[in-house]
Parts: sequence; C-alpha cells; structure tokens
Amino acid sequence: MTRPARPTPSDAVAGLTAYRVPRHGAPIDLVLSGNEGVAPPRELLAGLAAADLELLRRYPSAAPLEAALAARFGLDPAQVVVTAGGDDALERTFRAFLGPGREVILPAPTFVMLPKYAQLVGATVVDVPWPGGAFPTDAVLAAVTPDTGAICVVSPNNPTGAVAAGDDLRRLAAAAPHAVLVVDLAYGEMAAVDLTPVALALPNALVFRTFSKAWGLAGARLGYALGPAELVSWVRAAGNPYAVSGPSVALGLARLAAGDADVRRYVATVRAERAALTELLREAGAEVPDSEANFVLARFPDHAAAQWLHDALAGLGIAVRLFGEEPPELCGAVRITCPGNANDLTRVLHALRSALEPGALIVEDRLALACLEGQPGWYFTTTAEGIAAARAAGAVPIGLTGPEADPPEALVAAGAARVVSGPDALEGVLPAAVRAQGLPSAPRVP
Ligand SMILES: Cc1ncc(COP(=O)(O)O)c(C=O)c1O
Repeated sequence: MTRPARPTPSDAVAGLTAYRVPRHGAPIDLVLSGNEGVAPPRELLAGLAAADLELLRRYPSAAPLEAALAARFGLDPAQVVVTAGGDDALERTFRAFLGPGREVILPAPTFVMLPKYAQLVGATVVDVPWPGGAFPTDAVLAAVTPDTGAICVVSPNNPTGAVAAGDDLRRLAAAAPHAVLVVDLAYGEMAAVDLTPVALALPNALVFRTFSKAWGLAGARLGYALGPAELVSWVRAAGNPYAVSGPSVALGLARLAAGDADVRRYVATVRAERAALTELLREAGAEVPDSEANFVLARFPDHAAAQWLHDALAGLGIAVRLFGEEPPELCGAVRITCPGNANDLTRVLHALRSALEPGALIVEDRLALACLEGQPGWYFTTTAEGIAAARAAGAVPIGLTGPEADPPEALVAAGAARVVSGPDALEGVLPAAVRAQGLPSAPRVP
C-alpha cells in the first residue's frame, strides 16, 4: 500500500465539512438565525462571579446537576447524563448505538448535525420525508430493518417546527425494540404537548433536552439525556469525563434553582410571535408549515427568492438562516427565529414586509425616502450614506454601481442588501404587485 505524503482524514471525516451557515457582509444587530432563546436573568452571572475559585481549579463534576435534573423529572440520577449541549448527547448516543453496518432512520429535513454524527461513526442514514404535518410513523416503520440501531424523532422538528405525538413514540418503540428511539426535544418547551413523560415510559427511548433554547443558555453548552439507566450508562461511557465545564454546571444549577417562571413567559411570547410571523409570511406567498418551536420555516418557489429575503433582512440588520440548494427539500427555505420581545417582533415584521411587499421603490431620492414613514420599501443608492439613511428609514438598502458610486465593498459594509447595476437587476425577486407598476429607472450618471 502506498503511503500518503501528508496526513489524510479518515474515510468518515473525509466527506465532511465544518458546520457553517451563510453570512452576509452587512452589519447585523438582530440575530434570528440560531433559535436561541432570550437572555437569562443577570443575577446568574453575579452568582458565578461570587463563586469559590475551586470551581475553576478543580476538574468539574456534573453529578449535582444530574441529581437536580433527576429530581425535576422524577428519575434516579443514573437515568440522567449532562453533556456539552444536546449536540454532545446526540453524538455520544450515535457513537454508543451506531457504527458500520447499523442504520439510523432520520426524518428529512431535520437537524443538520444528525446525518453528520451518523457519518462520523460510519452508520447508514435512512431518510424518511417529513416536510411538515403529522410524523410519518408508517413510513418510518416500513424502513425498520434488523440493522436499525436508532430512530430519530425530533419534535418539534428543526427546521419545520412540526411535532410528533405520544402514540407515534409508542408505536415506534414497540415495533423496533432493538433500536434506540432518539427523542430530541430541544424545542420541547415551546410545543403544546411535552413528550417527555411518554418517552420516559418506554424501555428503548432516550430523551434529549437542552438549556440552549427556552432557557437562554446556548453559550454555556449545557444539555442532557434522560432514559433507562442502562441506555444512559452507554451514553455516559461514550463521552469524555469532563465534557461540561464547572462554570456551566454552576449556571445550570442556578438556573434550575431560580425556577422557570421566565421560561414560561418566554414560551408564551414565542407562541404569539410565531403566529404573527406565520400569518405575515403566508400572506406574502410563502409556504409555512405549522410550527410548535421558537422559529418558523418559510418556503419560497426557488433559492433566489429565499436568498433575496435573507439578503434584504441582512440589509436591515437582521440575520436569518438561509438553506442552500442542497438538500432539495430545503432549497428555497429560510428559517426565522422568534425574537422573544415586542420591539424586535415589530422590527422583523416590518423588515419582512419591506423585503417581500415593498409599497415603493425609490432611487436616490431622500425626500421620497423620508415620506415612506414606516411604509415598506426598497431604496436604491450609490452612496454609503444613502444606505445608512435607508436602513434608518426601514427601507431595504440596495447599492447601485456606477462611475461616481462608492465602491461595492463600502456599500455592503454600510449595510447594502445587494449591490446591483440598476433596479432591473432585481426583477427576478420583485413581488408581482410591484412588477405590475413597473420599475423605477436608475439615476443618470452626469
Ligand atoms: C433539534 C436540535 N437538537 C439539538 C440541538 C443541539 O442544541 P445544543 O447543543 O445547543 O443543546 C439543536 C440545536 O440547534 C437542535 O436544533
């Protein structure tokens, strides 16, 4: 066998790329791309600042947090493993129960890390379509084989927000007793029904939960798996001994001790916000599955339309999650996280209207821009200053190229959603109502 001249990745890693989401160059101050919850109470940090320095000096123990979670869910501590985010718990579970020759059944689309974790352990991914609506239990059951090592039920599912029912879990667990039922409830707090009790009553199910979403601690990287002690022991064995830092364990304990009144308030806000976002996006022609998570998915006819919404919102300082042309079931899709407060919701609703239903298309006319007065619109300009004025007025800022124009990089740095040669370059993404009125013409260059 010939020896390669330099280090090469294993077969499992060779086909993978690091997790990366598309970013726009415009300045962003409202991030609605990661499904994070709102910030936790500030006292949490004060408590950490006052902690004994042993918290940093010593290797950490997650046992106190596991005991607190066990008490919360009425379990034995051996039935809880605390991990570095739900991600760590899921990856360990795949390591523990999957491998070459074993299959994992995944709904598609779903959380993008799941197929990656499967590939890392050499398992075969079996996709079952779940575009939204009811969980495809019959199709999943038809896909079960003696080699099935795990069946994933992500509920609410990311990125659609669709949910499974307790009966789906019971049927799956009974029909595939040789497989682990991976019940990923990362967004479970936001759903109408908590599947935790149903899943915990099953002999082959593990429940995955996280402090990252409803509890507002994504930066602490805290998640956990719950289930039968034997299954949990394999998940524990498949990870490193000190995966979660001492400060994160302390934050989790303090967060639980403070109670969940603020989590419940956040969930109530999210439910109202996702209804408002769904309604507006559907009115604007997007296909939006019913969501029970803290985000909504908007499907447009093609990738260009989705890319436009992503860019236009970035022009207004808002980041949302744009999906690529692959996998095909997410081509043309944008996922928007509920902001979690009234001011930001008003802002994002206006930005969506500006991007998708502009009442006015203005070219280099500050007076007309001033007259917009909160109405949705697009503003074409050759200057960084014009871009800033458009952003301040809530109009989608679009840079124009030309001999006298500021350089395209300067226009994007100022916040331009796009830099184009003239308004007609955007004809492909113009809403039909606006197209009927005709495009304004670009200013003549003297
Ligand atoms: C469905 C689902 N599961 C698990 C996770 C992992 O979250 P974390 O590792 O932050 O707990 C995410 C994160 O986005 C998710 O969407």
